[in-house]
Amino acid sequence: MEIISRVPELRERLHNVSNIAFVPTMGNLHAGHISLMEQARQHGDCIVASIFVNPLQFGANEDLASYPRTLAEDCRKLYAAGVDVVFTPNEADLYPQPQTVIVQAPPIAGELCGAYRPGHFDGVATIVLKLFNLLQPQAALFGNKDFQQLFIIREMVRQLNVPVAIVAGETVREADGLAMSSRNGYLRPEQRVEAPRLFKALQQVVKTVRDGRRDFKAIETQTMQYLTMMGWIVDYIEVRSADTLAAAAANDRNLVVLGAARLGKTRLIDNIEFCVPQLN
Ligand code: PAF
Repeated sequence: MEIISRVPELRERLHNVSNIAFVPTMGNLHAGHISLMEQARQHGDCIVASIFVNPLQFGANEDLASYPRTLAEDCRKLYAAGVDVVFTPNEADLYPQPQTVIVQAPPIAGELCGAYRPGHFDGVATIVLKLFNLLQPQAALFGNKDFQQLFIIREMVRQLNVPVAIVAGETVREADGLAMSSRNGYLRPEQRVEAPRLFKALQQVVKTVRDGRRDFKAIETQTMQYLTMMGWIVDYIEVRSADTLAAAAANDRNLVVLGAARLGKTRLIDNIEFCVPQLN
């Protein structure tokens, strides 16, 4: 495995490689990332992972400075996962001058997480497009846990005709259901015990809708009230169309329930995609 931090070296290394499967990350890798690396082998001959904590996607009061940086350990995991090249640029490599050209993510970027993290998805879209241009991968893999991010990247690639196949990887969970996330490491022990409740609350929403209820707003409000009662600060719980991410309509069959909520300062997100039978 080669570890490359400079852009010219990366270009040189990938110059004659036509079949790249790419997994962009911000490091602090967990089993969810590693499953994407393993899945990547089905989509390319050369697996490239990037590790870059992208300042452009963090708001002024967010955790950019404290975001966990564990490069040596990450590289060990990537080596064990059979990755061929790890790209580890620093900020000056990717943003040698102030980035004044920014990808404007589609309007859905102002809803759900975007309503609480203004500019976040513009920052994500900009770095992802930049990395796609540098690497020119045939396929790129993203975790389904960041459902809205995945949706926006698919939309960007489609609308800007970027020649890359976007592949989704299943959310990997701890034994108690908590979705794996680099931010789980921020949780204090008692918060870690509480954290799986978000997933359980989403599972309850799925069951309620599958049982026939379609009063989505009432279900969302009840779930938010329940989590608030259990000590969470809830940003949103929403049932949406899994195909368009628009608010769910009673006759939608492919749905996704998404949630974002904080335990103390730690913001967790999760979602469950599900199908329901047509109502008569
Ligand atoms: O999901 C992430 O880790 C980041 O948003 C990404 C896609 C690597 C862009 O910085």
